[in-house]
Parts: sequence; C-alpha cells; structure tokens
Amino acid sequence: ETTYVPYKVKDISLAEWGRKEIELAEAEMPGLMSLRTEFCASKPLQGARIAGCLHMTIQTAVLIETLVELGADVSWSSCNIFSTQDHAAAAIAAAGIPVYAWKGMNEEQFNWCIEQTLFFGEDRQPLNMILDDGGDLTNMVFDKYPELIDGIKGLSEETTTGVHRLYERMKNGTLHLPAINVNDSVTKSKFDNKYGCRESLVDAIRRATDLMLAGKVAVVAGYGDVGKGSAESLRSAGVRVIVTEIDPICALQAAMEGFEVKKMADAVKEANIVVTTTGNKDIVRAEHFKAMKDKTVVCNIGHFDNEIDVAWLNSNYGSTKVEIKPQVDKYTIDGNDVILLAEGRLVNLGCATGHPSFVMSNSFTNQTLAQLELWTNTDQYGKEVYTLPKHLDEKVARLHLAHIGVELETLTEDQASYIGVTVEGPYKPEAYRY
Ligand code: NAI
Repeated sequence: ETTYVPYKVKDISLAEWGRKEIELAEAEMPGLMSLRTEFCASKPLQGARIAGCLHMTIQTAVLIETLVELGADVSWSSCNIFSTQDHAAAAIAAAGIPVYAWKGMNEEQFNWCIEQTLFFGEDRQPLNMILDDGGDLTNMVFDKYPELIDGIKGLSEETTTGVHRLYERMKNGTLHLPAINVNDSVTKSKFDNKYGCRESLVDAIRRATDLMLAGKVAVVAGYGDVGKGSAESLRSAGVRVIVTEIDPICALQAAMEGFEVKKMADAVKEANIVVTTTGNKDIVRAEHFKAMKDKTVVCNIGHFDNEIDVAWLNSNYGSTKVEIKPQVDKYTIDGNDVILLAEGRLVNLGCATGHPSFVMSNSFTNQTLAQLELWTNTDQYGKEVYTLPKHLDEKVARLHLAHIGVELETLTEDQASYIGVTVEGPYKPEAYRY
C-alpha cells in the first residue's frame, strides 16, 4: 500500500484553462458524450475503481469524466513521461479526481505515479479495473502487486504495443485477467493510429523545429496503421517520402500509394527527416546516424523509445548534446548535426498535443464500452484477450456520423438478405479487413 496523496500535478492553478479546453473538446467527442447521455441515469460502472494509465491530455480528461459520469471511481497516471498536458491534469485534480501526472517527469517519478493509482482514497481501497496504454500499469500489477489480481475484474488496453504484450502473456500463460484489446477495434486502429497520426505527426515536427517541410525528404520506417498515417501526413506537407518495411504486403501497399520503398541504410543518406513507426526496436542505429546529412531531424511516433538507439547516441556523442528547447536536442556526429525530438519518445505527444479530439472520441468510446463489458458481463470473459464485437465497433462509428454531416443509406429487407446481413448490421464478416 502507498500512503495517501490526493493528487500530484505541475500547477493546480492551470485548472481553469484546462477546464475551458475540456469543454471545447467535449463538443468534438460525440461518442463519449452520447454514452454519458445513455448511461448517466443507470450508472452501470457504480462500484468500479478504475486505475487508468494513458497520456493525460485534454481528450483523456473527457474520457475520465465520462467514466466518472457512468458511476466509476477513477485514478490516473500518464503512460509517457512527456505526454501530460499540465492544464488537463490540473483540471482533473481540481475536479477531485486523483491524478498523478506532469510533463517532463523522470522514470522513477513515472513508476511512483502509476503506483499511486493502485489504491483509492484515505481508506486505500485497491483498484478493481485496469485501463492501460502500453502495458506498464498491467505489468506493475502482475509483477509487483500480484496480491491485487484476484480483486480485479479485467483490463482494457489501448495500443498496438500493449496488445502485443498481452497476446504474448496469453501464449506464456501469464495473463491473469480477462483483457479487451481496444486497439483492434476497426474504429480505433484504422482511425486513431492512421488519421490521428496524419494530423499529429507534422504538427509535432513543425512545433518542434519550425522547419519548412515542403521539398524535404523523409524516411518513414514501418507502413502499418501509424506508418500509413505518418507517410500521408508528410506527403500532404509537400515532403517526398521513402518508406521502409519488412512485410511484403505493407511494402506493396506503400508502393501502390506512390511511395518509394527502400532499405534504411540507403534511404537515410537522402533524408532530412527520419520517423520510426514500427513498434519494433533498433530501427535507427549507429550506422544510420553516421550516414545522416547535416541537421537531419530524427523522431519516433511508436509507443516506446527503443526504436531509435538513443542509448548509443548518448554514450558516444552525449558530450556534444545541446538542448535547443525542451524535447528538442542537437547532437553532433563527426561534424554533422542531428536534431533528436522528445528523446526518441513518441513525438506527437512529446512535442505536440497528440491526436485531435474527434478521432480520440472513437478510441475512447471503445475504451468505455470495453470497461462496461468487463465490469457488467464479467462472467462471460476468461483469462484471454478479446476484441469488442462488431456491432459495438459499428455503434462507435455510428455515434460519430452526425457531427460531420454523414448520412447513411438503409438496407431494405430484400437487400439485406441478398448480401446475407440483417438491416441493423453487423454488415461485414469477421474476416473483412476494411
Ligand atoms: P502495425 O503493426 O500496424 O505497424 C508496424 C509496422 O512496422 C508493420 O507493418 C511492420 O511490418 C513494420 N516493421 C516492423 N519491424 C520493422 C523494421 N525493422 N523495419 C521496417 N518496418 C518494420 O502497428 P501500428 O498500429 O502502426 O503501431 C506502431 C506503433 O505505434 C506501436 O508501438 C503503437 O503502440 C504505436 N502507436 C502510437 C500512436 C501515437 O499516437 N504516437 C498511436 C497508435 C499507435
């Protein structure tokens, strides 16, 4: 058990500004707001003590307050040391919700913050639900507080990398709770990962560097969902984009979209900007850094900071490091400068404010539905990884149509039976890939 700390944020006086931005965000998050309307009277999450570990942004504040509106007690930490928006954290703290998050914490403080969220209130009631992004909270509970597992009904996981860890646990027999993979809802990974990064990658590079992007050359490592959005983000800014891949299907997709596809060793020599999006490790290494042109901007938009070998950079060229401003550092490698963003941690949340509210409303409506499922239908889930059923995925999409003026056709009974679906959906078989 930890001793009771009601909250810890950078500056509680930022709460009023945070509140104003939360109100603006609410207007762009119709999925979450309609769940509030649907469930505010019945309070289906009553009794739930949800510990959340997910970037403490304005959009996340709307998620947190939705869970509270549905009846839950909630405590929160951020899943990255640079991703907290201090005004968002302050507004949540001022609303009386225990939050432990500030931008620019160190690793030790990061773990301290997660630990605070495990126990609620002065009577130190343990959590009974987990909402995670990347798996650090899940790992802390499983590895350091196994005695809490029995009291927890389930966990929902936001991102590709965290989901990957869960499937690995399921394979090894170390997944101790029912888990919902939120990432692989179509309305999450095919929207947040793709269209979110399409907006937030270039935003981050511009805020960090003020570089003229048109006419430059960028390498995007990985052409999965995040890579597709990232490559498109750069292309629409007038950048010539080269993709690297290991998967022939994704490489072919990149080529069909008109991107060059090359090996990193060759592409890096031409690049002004290098972005990693793979969720894998050791993508930008010593030999690549040494081949870079002067003033190449290097950043990562994948979940963890091991895509770029920052450790090598620091141990060999750490003495040349100059901080231009927070989250923007210059290293000099044999006469050439390299500009590293957010110390190699996910750049859109480190150097900008992450994805816009509307796309996060899709992700977080899935999160809320996942928490509702695990809390109210606990018996239906074993210690496995599940995705939400397609009718809920379609519900999430449906909740976001009116806000952007989308009108749907309705099937006739005759048409529905001709294509083998029902008028209300689901409209696609499980194998359909969108
Ligand atoms: P994904 O699995 O769809 O895509 C990753 C791609 O990288 C795959 O196509 C894979 O073949 C490729 N790849 C793997 N090793 C490679 C290598 N050595 N060289 C070149 N390509 C390689 O995963 P997704 O959904 O695109 O996520 C990628 C990462 O981004 C994950 O860590 C995820 O958690 C994170 N993420 C970050 C977001 C953000 O806002 N910054 C939003 C959503 C996800």
